Amino acid sequence: MAIRMLTLEDLDLSGKRVFLRVDINTPIHPETGALIEQARLEEAAQTIARLSKSKVVVGSHQGRVGRPDYTSLAKHAEALSGILGKAVSFVPDVFGPEALREIDSMEAGEILVLDNLRFTAEENQEYRPVDAERTFLVSRLKGHVDACVLDAFSTAHRSSPTIVGFAELVPTCAGLTVAKELRMLDKVLGVEKGPYVTVLGGAKVSDRLEAIDALVANNRADRVLLCGVVGLVFLKAAGMYRGSLGIESEQKHVMKARQLIDEDPERFAMPVDVAIKVDGGRRDVDVKSLAGQGAVLDIGPKTVEKYEKFIKGAGTVFMSGPPGAFEWKEFSFGTESLLKAMASSLATTIISGGHLSSALRKYGIHDQVDHISTAGGALVQYLAGRRLPLVDALERASDKWGPRKLQAVSQAEKPGAGRA
Ligand code: 3PG
Repeated sequence: MAIRMLTLEDLDLSGKRVFLRVDINTPIHPETGALIEQARLEEAAQTIARLSKSKVVVGSHQGRVGRPDYTSLAKHAEALSGILGKAVSFVPDVFGPEALREIDSMEAGEILVLDNLRFTAEENQEYRPVDAERTFLVSRLKGHVDACVLDAFSTAHRSSPTIVGFAELVPTCAGLTVAKELRMLDKVLGVEKGPYVTVLGGAKVSDRLEAIDALVANNRADRVLLCGVVGLVFLKAAGMYRGSLGIESEQKHVMKARQLIDEDPERFAMPVDVAIKVDGGRRDVDVKSLAGQGAVLDIGPKTVEKYEKFIKGAGTVFMSGPPGAFEWKEFSFGTESLLKAMASSLATTIISGGHLSSALRKYGIHDQVDHISTAGGALVQYLAGRRLPLVDALERASDKWGPRKLQAVSQAEKPGAGRA
């Protein structure tokens, strides 16, 4: 279905106060508090640069309440300034008097980063648009901005106030990242190509389990290749790993994995060997002889060989979360091999997340996959055919503010519909 949306071409934003909702939620080093990567900041910087004649008020969330990455955006503002090569101000406030005063005193060409939007209770909730409009967050800010640019594609699945609340209050359009993501996804998903192979790795187990649910429900995961911590959860559920994984809600996740395996055992491929860290180095061990003797940091060569075959036979491959701790040379084998298998396959290939994007650059194959998205959960929901609240907001804004203009973008809204 075509998406009705306005883009930066459609609104004259020069001299205007623009609320720019980006997603610069970035992995944070647990000890130093440093930003670990810049992928989302670099994306956001492109839209900020494009708004060089406006007064740009940047809003983003960072982390989740109670998690170690739930921090202020002061460092993000500094990083943006470095990327843009110009001053970027930061205010440790979101919609209080200090933030509003700073916004009102801005000159055209200036950039102001508000503090973590999730420091407000409301941004942590999901709302219907009409209720989002009435939140303090939106109703206080709306009198101080002339327009809104939605550029947080990776938060497109959250109906939080700053995603869905402004669309009908001030002229609202898509930023460069959102427009690019939707165009690329439309292009690569325009031709439905099965079988669908999903490679899931990394440490975010609950996100990966949610992804499986969404993709399976919409026939977008004929085969799921499990790696990383989620791979261990499935091994444990299958009775092949007995140690403790030391992760939050471990028992719940293991039970969920058990249920998924029981429903369709053929769908899930699990590691047959893994690499553990012993005396500071790599040792490949069969999962049968795995007894919690060292941290599991990669998949082993037999698993790589098995997974490469599935990737070669796929019509579409989606990877979310790295198969191993590729930042360390000894443990990068699995990630490098599977990414290279994707790069050389004839399948439509989609990569999710900044970590994998940096891995692709590291291996020099960044331009050999079809789409690299900075999004995680939002991309999964999109691939699974779910309506995204941010896209709905853009459609409402287009109906209210725009000359009706169908962009050459379709959401491939129901990619699973009609598929076997
Ligand atoms: C993400 O990293 O996927 C987005 O920033 C959304 O974050 P959330 O899952 O905490 O809403």
